[in-house]
Amino acid sequence: MRKILVTSALPYANGPIHLGHMLEYIQTDIWVRFQKAMGNQCTYVCADDAHGTAIMLRAEKEGLTPEAQIAKVQAEHEADFAEFLVNFDNFGSTHSEENRELSALIYNRLKANGHINVRGIKQLFDPEKQMFLADRYVKGNCPKCNAEDQYGDNCESCGATYNASELKNPRSVLSGAAPVEKESDHYFFKLPEFQQFLKDWTRSGTLQTEVANKLAEWLENGLQEWDISRDAPYFGFEIPDAPGKYFYVWLDAPIGYMASFKQLCNRTGMDFDEYWGKNSTAEVYHFIGKDIINFHALFWPSMLSSAQFRTPSAVWAHGYVTVNGAKMSKSRGTFIKARTYLNNLTPEYLRYYYAAKLTDKVDDFDLNLEDFVSRVNADLVGKVINIASRCAGFVKKSGGKLAAELSNQALLEQFIAKGDEIAGLYEKREFGKAIREIIALADAANEYIHAKEPWALAKQEGKAAEVLDICSLGINLFRQLMVYLAPVLPDMTEKARQFLNIDDLSWASRSQVLLGHALNDFVPLMGRIEKEKVDAIVAQELADAAKEAAAAPAPAAKIEPIAAEIEFDDFAKVDLRIAKIVKAEHVEGAGKLLRLTLDIGEGKTRNVFSGIKAAYSPEELTGKLTVMVANLKPRKMKFGMSEGMVLAAGPGGDELWILEPHEGAKPGMRVM
Ligand code: MSP
Ligand code: ZN
Repeated sequence: MRKILVTSALPYANGPIHLGHMLEYIQTDIWVRFQKAMGNQCTYVCADDAHGTAIMLRAEKEGLTPEAQIAKVQAEHEADFAEFLVNFDNFGSTHSEENRELSALIYNRLKANGHINVRGIKQLFDPEKQMFLADRYVKGNCPKCNAEDQYGDNCESCGATYNASELKNPRSVLSGAAPVEKESDHYFFKLPEFQQFLKDWTRSGTLQTEVANKLAEWLENGLQEWDISRDAPYFGFEIPDAPGKYFYVWLDAPIGYMASFKQLCNRTGMDFDEYWGKNSTAEVYHFIGKDIINFHALFWPSMLSSAQFRTPSAVWAHGYVTVNGAKMSKSRGTFIKARTYLNNLTPEYLRYYYAAKLTDKVDDFDLNLEDFVSRVNADLVGKVINIASRCAGFVKKSGGKLAAELSNQALLEQFIAKGDEIAGLYEKREFGKAIREIIALADAANEYIHAKEPWALAKQEGKAAEVLDICSLGINLFRQLMVYLAPVLPDMTEKARQFLNIDDLSWASRSQVLLGHALNDFVPLMGRIEKEKVDAIVAQELADAAKEAAAAPAPAAKIEPIAAEIEFDDFAKVDLRIAKIVKAEHVEGAGKLLRLTLDIGEGKTRNVFSGIKAAYSPEELTGKLTVMVANLKPRKMKFGMSEGMVLAAGPGGDELWILEPHEGAKPGMRVM
C-alpha cells in the first residue's frame, strides 16, 4: 500500500471560488479518489491562503478585521468545495497556529544555515497610507514611451519593463498621493546557493518535461535572492526577532500545506514525520496552476532542503481555464463563480466535462458551454446510464435477481481487463484518455444489448431465461463502468452502488462477477443538462457584474488639464483618418493589447497594436469604423511593428471607448 499526500494550491481568501479554480480542485480530487479506490492510503489537504496586502486592504474596505474577513471567505470556500464533492481530509488556513510554528521553525533553520541575508532596499512609500507600495499599487507614466496610467512593473503600451521608482509622475493607487522613496531592511532567501540543487531536482522526474525545460532556461540565466519580508502594516506572521517585519505571503503559503497536514495529524494520530521527515518514503504531490510554478519548483524545494525536510515527489501544473475560447470575463458573464454554477446545475456535470478534457499537460483548457451541454448529455445520459435503465426492468420482472451464471462472459472479461489500462491512465493524470476508454466500453455494452434486443425477446414465449442472461451481463458491464467512473462521479456512482447492492466500487472489487445476486430498485441516476440552466448561469453572472459596477463608487472623473495652445499648422501635421477594423486578435503574451488590422481605404491596411483589450473583445470590434493617426511614425513593439494609433477616450483599463464616426464616413477619409 502506497502512502500518498496530495495538495491543491491554497485559494486566496479574498474572493470567491470560480470555475477556473475548480479545474484544479476537481483534477486533484479525481486523482485522490482514484488512489483511494486502488486501496492506497491517500491523504488530501488544502487550506485558505489568508495573508498578504490584498486581503488586508479587502478587509479594510469591507469594514472587517482581517480575521473576520478570512473566516467569512473560508466558510464560503469550504461550502463550495463540499458541494463540488471535493473531499479534503483537512482544510485549514495559513493563518493558523500550526502554520505560525512551522513557518518560524523553517525560517530559523534557513537562518541558522546562513541562507538568509538582510539588506536595505529603497521602495516607494505612500506617505498618506503610511505603507510601502508593491508595484501593482503604483501607477504613472511609462519611463520609455510616456504612456499614461501604467503599473509599476511594465508598460502595456510599449512592453518596457522597469522598476516602480522609474515611473514618471507616479501616484499611489491606494490614496492618490505621490509616493516617496524610502529605505528599509528586507530579509532575503539566498536562492542562488541552490542553483546546482535545483538543476538536479528539476531534472529528476519531479516536473512535467515542458515545465522542466522552461525552468532550465531560468536556471541558466542565474537566480536572484528572494525577498521574503514585508514591512508593517501587513497581514501575516511577524518574523521571529524582527519586530515590524512580516513574512511575505508566499513564504508561509506553501508551508500551509504542511500546517494543514499537521492539523490532520493532531486530530487523527497520523505521523507527520512519516510524510515530511528527511527520510520519508511516502509520496508527496502538489497540484498547481501554471502561474505559480516558480514558487513550487524553485523556492519551495530549496527551502525544504535547507530546512531538513523532504522535497515533493512531484509538482504537477495544469493550464488556465478559458470559457468559450476567451479569458473568463465578468462583462461577458463567463467569470462563473462556483456558487452560481451550484445554484443551477449538478456538480457532476462539470466534474465529468473537466475529466473528459484533462491531460497531464500544461495546456490551457477551454470550457465551451455548448460543448459542455452536448458532451455530458451524449456520454453520461445517452450512453452510460442507458445501459442500466434498459436492463434493470427486465431483471426486476424476473424476480430482481441476476442470473446464477452467464452463458458468455467474454465481453465482461474484456471490460474487467480494460481496468488495468484505465487505472494506468488515471495514475498518469490522463483523465481524458481514461474517459475515452470508458465511453468506448459503454458503446460496446450498448451495441451488445442493442444486438440482442431483450425487449423483443421478452415478448416471446419461453425466452425469459435468455432475457435474464442478456440483462445480467448488461448489469455486470454497467457495474464495471461504475467502478471506472467512481473517481469522477462519486454521487452518481454511489446511487448506482446502492442499486447494484454491492459493498463498494473499489478497483479490485470489479473482478468479482455478480451472479445470482439480488439488485435493489433502480433509481434515476442523472438527468440531462438543460441548456436553459447554462443560460441562467451566464445571465446571473452578467447581473452580478452590473450590480458590482453600480455599487463601485464611480471614481471622480479625472479630467486632465487642457494642454498648451498650438498653431493650426501643428494640428494639421496630424493626419487623422477613418479606418475600418477588419480584424482584431489577441496577442500571445500581451495582457492589455489587441492586434488590429485597419482598412484605410484604397486597399491599404495597417497593423496597429492597441491597449484596449480590457474594454473590448476582438469579436465586438471587428467591422467597426474608428479614427486613427495615420502618419504616426511606425514603432517597433515587443510583439511587432505598430503602424499608427487608434483614438480612444477614457481613463484606461475597461473604461475606454474608441471613437466611431457617424454613419456615412468611409475608410480613408481625412478627419479635420
Ligand atoms: N494562493 C495562491 C496559491 C498558494 S499555494 C501555496 C494562489 N491562489 S489563487 O486563488 O489565485 O489560485 C489557486 C489555484 O487556482 C492556483 O493553482 C491557480 O493556478 C488556479 N487558478 C486560478 N485561476 C485559474 C484559471 N482560470 N484556470 C485554471 N486554474 C486557475 O495562486
Ligand atoms: Zn511604454
